[in-house]
Amino acid sequence: MAGDTKFLLWLLLLNSSLLCFGSELDIQCLKSVQKSVIDPSGVLNSTWNFDDSTSGFICRFTGVECWHPDENRVLSLRLGNLGLEGPFPQGLQNCTSMSGLDLSSNSFSGPIPPDISRQMPYLIALDLSYNSFSGEIPSDISNMQYLVLLNLQHNQLSGQIPEQFDLLTRLTTFSVADNLLSGTIPSSLRNVSASNFVGNKELCGSPLDECSDSRKETGGISGESSIGAAVGFILGFVVALYFSRWFICSKRLRAYVLHI
Ligand SMILES: *[C@@H]1O[C@H](CO)[C@@H](O)[C@H](O)[C@H]1NC(C)=O
Ligand SMILES: *[C@@H]1O[C@H](CO)[C@@H](O)[C@H](O)[C@H]1NC(C)=O
Ligand SMILES: *[C@@H]1O[C@H](CO)[C@@H](O)[C@H](O)[C@H]1NC(C)=O
Repeated sequence: MAGDTKFLLWLLLLNSSLLCFGSELDIQCLKSVQKSVIDPSGVLNSTWNFDDSTSGFICRFTGVECWHPDENRVLSLRLGNLGLEGPFPQGLQNCTSMSGLDLSSNSFSGPIPPDISRQMPYLIALDLSYNSFSGEIPSDISNMQYLVLLNLQHNQLSGQIPEQFDLLTRLTTFSVADNLLSGTIPSSLRNVSASNFVGNKELCGSPLDECSDSRKETGGISGESSIGAAVGFILGFVVALYFSRWFICSKRLRAYVLHI
């Protein structure tokens, strides 16, 4: 509750304080994005024209949503399905009041920036699905505390899902389906439905099946050890019986001998 109030207060402050100096940085941000992205169909090249520079001109760019239509301040970047390629776009930290980033269904590749929370600390929605992003999911994503939606479905991401994701308390939509992830699903994500984890290399634990490695291991060990225990018990019993009989007999024998 306190966190949400703080968040609202922050939004209000952001809304008012960035009126004067936000726009220059936002223009810089989009220039940098355009420069760093490979755009074979020329969508950004043809619709992102920076010569105009009237107030709100970037709000008419393809995929750019502004807080107000006549103010050069990016609310969200929706660049889904534009045939874009190359590494994760650069310069996004200059879109200082951005709350949504959608790069879905393109051919972006390479790592997700390890300092992504510093670049976009106030994101509410991050959709990188249906690209070819590779490497590990940066644990730094867990510092993007306002995230409600995180979609990483259908990439080449490997390694484990960071344990720190339990810090993302606002998250309601989450998917890492169809990647190369492995390891145990963090307990904080166990309420997310299984379909959002399927199609990975070796991801396991609730809501998916138990981890097959440990299942095989415990199954193997317990099977072997129970057989071993049974064999040991029988062997011990036989030996004990044999020796006790031998001991008793020899004692009796000795007593008998002594008695005589
Ligand atoms: C971008 O568009 C301009 C004309 O609007 C053209 O001259 C230029 O070659 C284009 N650049 C790319 C990389 O497509
Ligand atoms: C952000 O904008 C400033 C000012 O225009 C520029 O000097 C800086 O290089 C930009 N940062 C990035 C990461 O593009
Ligand atoms: C999962 O959901 C149950 C009830 O639906 C809730 O009590 C529990 O706290 C949730 N667990 C997590 C880790 O979100």
